[in-house]
Amino acid sequence: MDKFVMIIFGASGDLTKRKLMPALYSLYKDKRLKGDFFIIGVGRTVYTDTDYRAYIYSELEKFVKPEDQDKEWMDAFTQHLYYLPIDPAVEAGYVRLRERLEELTGEKEPDNLLFYLATPPSLYGVIPLHIKKAHLNRGHARIIVEKPFGYDLESARELNRIYASVFGEHQIYRIDHFLGKETAQNILAFRFANGIFEPLWNRNYIDYIEITAVENLGIEDRGGFYDSTGALRDMVQNHLIQLVALTAMEPPAVFNADTFRDEVVKVYESLTPLKEVDFEEHIVRGQYTASGNKKGYREEKNVSPESRTETYIAMKLGISNWRWSGVPFYIRTGKQMPTKVTEIVVHFRETPHQMFHCEGGHCPRANKLILRLQPNEGIVLKIGMKVPGAGFEVKQVTMEFSYNQLGGVPIGDAYARLIDDCIQGDPTLFTRSDAVDASWRFFDPVLRYWKDHPDAPLYGYPAGTWGPLESEAMMHEHGAEWTNPC
Ligand code: BG6
Repeated sequence: MDKFVMIIFGASGDLTKRKLMPALYSLYKDKRLKGDFFIIGVGRTVYTDTDYRAYIYSELEKFVKPEDQDKEWMDAFTQHLYYLPIDPAVEAGYVRLRERLEELTGEKEPDNLLFYLATPPSLYGVIPLHIKKAHLNRGHARIIVEKPFGYDLESARELNRIYASVFGEHQIYRIDHFLGKETAQNILAFRFANGIFEPLWNRNYIDYIEITAVENLGIEDRGGFYDSTGALRDMVQNHLIQLVALTAMEPPAVFNADTFRDEVVKVYESLTPLKEVDFEEHIVRGQYTASGNKKGYREEKNVSPESRTETYIAMKLGISNWRWSGVPFYIRTGKQMPTKVTEIVVHFRETPHQMFHCEGGHCPRANKLILRLQPNEGIVLKIGMKVPGAGFEVKQVTMEFSYNQLGGVPIGDAYARLIDDCIQGDPTLFTRSDAVDASWRFFDPVLRYWKDHPDAPLYGYPAGTWGPLESEAMMHEHGAEWTNPC
């Protein structure tokens, strides 16, 4: 195989130091990345190769788990790093990039290249065009591009057109790191490798489903990015809707990149289009306000003091198909919540008749299945059991599987898994162009509604709480409440 070169645009940014370099280091240590390979960081900040290696080494010390840090491996890994100080927005720099690639590989036309776009989204449309002009899109070249892919439907379509003019679809890897999570992939195994749940997995037995992905941090130092993005673009249009797809999709007859992604798209295309009443009552957006020693969103660095960007969103979705008709999917995400957790809670229908008498008259009648993606990764089933002793009182108890029980098998890192897949040429866990389009088709009307109704409510919620009370009201309509994990 030709020498492999990964070119990271945005090499001095947050994502590179927090996620990409630790992931590449772990692939290197696991010998998934070996032989003749080079990683070239590209960015406007000026570094020499030596400075960049030292900088990344010090970041690895911060972002790699202490038990995985090994001085020798870290030293050896950073020797594969190089740096090219160019402005990725300007065409001229790509001639220098090509020269650098030829010089490092000693090849006339190096083509085993992987471009990674970890830049602000405003550069997603520009970089591929410069790559093409510099003839760097040939052979085995691949490109990984971060989310959000597009700012709305129109810009996502424009991006898809640009990418299609530079690369074949098989060369384009639109990354959504939630799909790289072991626990997200396990949703498919749980559903389709077991015979007992799938017969119940439909509107006859399921009452409603909740999907929660919340964080106890604010926007940290990403104000510039976040204030022009917001929770809908940052989390919902990609991560959350992927989780909806994994929960709701049909099993493909054979599992491969095409069949799996076909089923994902079918879910997106079955989402019940949103109507006026949904914009007003079934979508709740919020923004965190100062509380205790926590800043309010509008006081964050690089955020407008009048910002109307949402840091919280809860939505009720419907899926119009035979399996899911009438079953609401409640999804929510937020910054500055009481805890960090991602989980799916499947609420089964109540037993049709209750013959036991429980204290207070409330016997638990509905089973609940919780797929916990992070942290405390595992699966919990809530079932009713008789309380030992006289009478027939029933109480809900928990059956629990925790990933810890797998006995030392570490849960791999999502970025490492996905970068490895891309290097191996497996696009299964990446978002296809038609999925981007279908997802934006569904969410674009929300953005338009907010734009056309500048007074549409944006509720404040004190940092460190579970979001606006209005999102509770949305659940009450169904006679339910959010499951707030502790
Ligand atoms: C990223 C978002 O894609 O996902 C961040 O841009 C968010 O705002 C992050 O914090 C959450 O990912 P994880 O894996 O930490 O749940």
